[in-house]
Amino acid sequence: MPTAPMPEFPTGFRWGVSTSAYQIEGAAGTDGRGPSIWDTFAHTPGRIIDGSSGDVACDHYHRYAEDVALMAGLGVTAYRFSISWPRVLPSGTGQVNPAGLDFYERLVDELLAHGIDPVATLFHWDLPQPLEDAGGWLNRDTAHRFAEYADLVAARLGDRVRLWITLNEPFIHLSLGHATGVHAPGRMLLFDAFPVAHHQLLGHGLAVAALRARSTSPVAIANNYSPVRVVGGSEADVAAAATYEALHNRLFTDPLFGRGYPTELGFDTTAVRDGDLDVIAAPIDVLGVNYYNPTAVRAPEEGSPLPFELVPLTGYPRTAFDWPVDPAGLRELLGWLHDRYRTTLPPIQITESGCAYDDAPDADGWVPDPDRIAYLDGHLRAVRAAIDDGVDVTGYFVWSLLDNWEWAEGFTKRFGLVHVDFETGQRTPKSSYAWLREVIATTRREP
Ligand code: NOJ
Repeated sequence: MPTAPMPEFPTGFRWGVSTSAYQIEGAAGTDGRGPSIWDTFAHTPGRIIDGSSGDVACDHYHRYAEDVALMAGLGVTAYRFSISWPRVLPSGTGQVNPAGLDFYERLVDELLAHGIDPVATLFHWDLPQPLEDAGGWLNRDTAHRFAEYADLVAARLGDRVRLWITLNEPFIHLSLGHATGVHAPGRMLLFDAFPVAHHQLLGHGLAVAALRARSTSPVAIANNYSPVRVVGGSEADVAAAATYEALHNRLFTDPLFGRGYPTELGFDTTAVRDGDLDVIAAPIDVLGVNYYNPTAVRAPEEGSPLPFELVPLTGYPRTAFDWPVDPAGLRELLGWLHDRYRTTLPPIQITESGCAYDDAPDADGWVPDPDRIAYLDGHLRAVRAAIDDGVDVTGYFVWSLLDNWEWAEGFTKRFGLVHVDFETGQRTPKSSYAWLREVIATTRREP
C-alpha cells in the first residue's frame, strides 16, 4: 500500500471518473432506443468471450441516481459519460427519440445538483446499426450525420455540459473494429481501413463547429496513446516500432494539430478531399488522453500482412488483462505530446486511466483491491511529475466508476472503483474507492 502522502494538484484540477453508454446503461430495448453495431456484434455467437452482451450491463439507465450518489460520495468534480447515439436517434439520423434525450437531461441535472461537472462523449463506438448498414465510417456521409447528431445534443444540453468530447479512441475503433475485427463492426480491412480514420476525424471537425454554434463549453477529443518500446534492436525492429508509433500515436493527432497524416504509413488517402484537413485541424480546447500501458513492437515474421508485430512487454507487474503496469510511461507520453505539438497543444486532461483485476467481495463483504490503489497512486504521481516537467495537465478521470461490460471481454474484466454484482446489480465500493476519496479530499484545491 502506498504510504507517502500524495502531492497537491494545481488549483481547479478536475477529479473525475469515466464510463461509456453501452458498457453500463443496459436498457437496450427500452424507451425507443435503436440498435447499435455493438448490439449486433454482441449477439453474434463467438464474438464475446463469455457470450454476454450489454443488454442489461449495470442497468445504469434505471440506477443512474444511485450511481451519481456514489460519485458524490467519492468527491469527484466531474463525470465523463457517453451519449448513446441510437438512444437519441434510433436510425442514426432523422427521427429523434425524445425519451433518449430526456434520459441524458435527467442525468446531467442530477450531476449538477451534486456539484459534478457533466463531461459528455458523443461517440464511444456504438454507431447506430442503420448507419453501419449504409457503410458506417467507411461512408463519408457518416461524418455529416455525426455533426447533425452533435448539433441535436448540444441544442438540448449545450448550456449544462461542461466539456464536450467528440470521439473516444478513434484509433481503437479503427484498429480493433475495422482492421482486425476484434470489436464491432468486425471488419478485417487491415490498412484498407484508412477511410474509417479519415471520416471519424472529419466527423470530429464538423462536430466541433456544430458544438461551438450551440454551446460555449470547451471541446475535446479523447485519443489513446502508448509509448512504443522496440524489442530486438535490428534495423528492421526499429523501423517496425517507428511505423507502429506513427499509427498508434500520430495518425489521429498530427492532423488535429495541422500536420496532416503521417506519410510513412503508406495509406491510400484518396478519401481525403480538399479542405478536409482544415476542418479536422479546427482548434480544440482540451486534448483528452487515455493511457493504459506501453506497447512492445518488433519486426514481423516473413509474409506477415502487417509491417510490425506486437509482443508482450516483460519486466513489469501485470493487470488481469495482462497489460504491463508502467506509470513512467504516462509521464513520458505527456512529455512527448508537449514537445511534439508545443504551441498548438491545448491543456491535457487524462480522460481514462485504470486497470482490471479479479476483484471479489471477501467474507465480510469488503472488496479489497490493493493492486488498483497502487496503480492509481503511481499514475497520479506520474501526472504530478509531468506537471512539474511543465506539461499543462488539468484533470484526471479514472476508468471506471463501476465494473462494467468490457467489450469483447464481456463481464470478465473488472475496472471499477465500485464492484458490481452482475446478477443483482448491487454496487459495493472497493477499497480503492475509499482510498481515492481520501486522496481527493486531501489534495483538491478549489479555485
Ligand atoms: C478504453 C475504452 O475507451 C473503454 O471503453 C475501455 O473499457 C477501456 N479502454 C478499458 O479497456
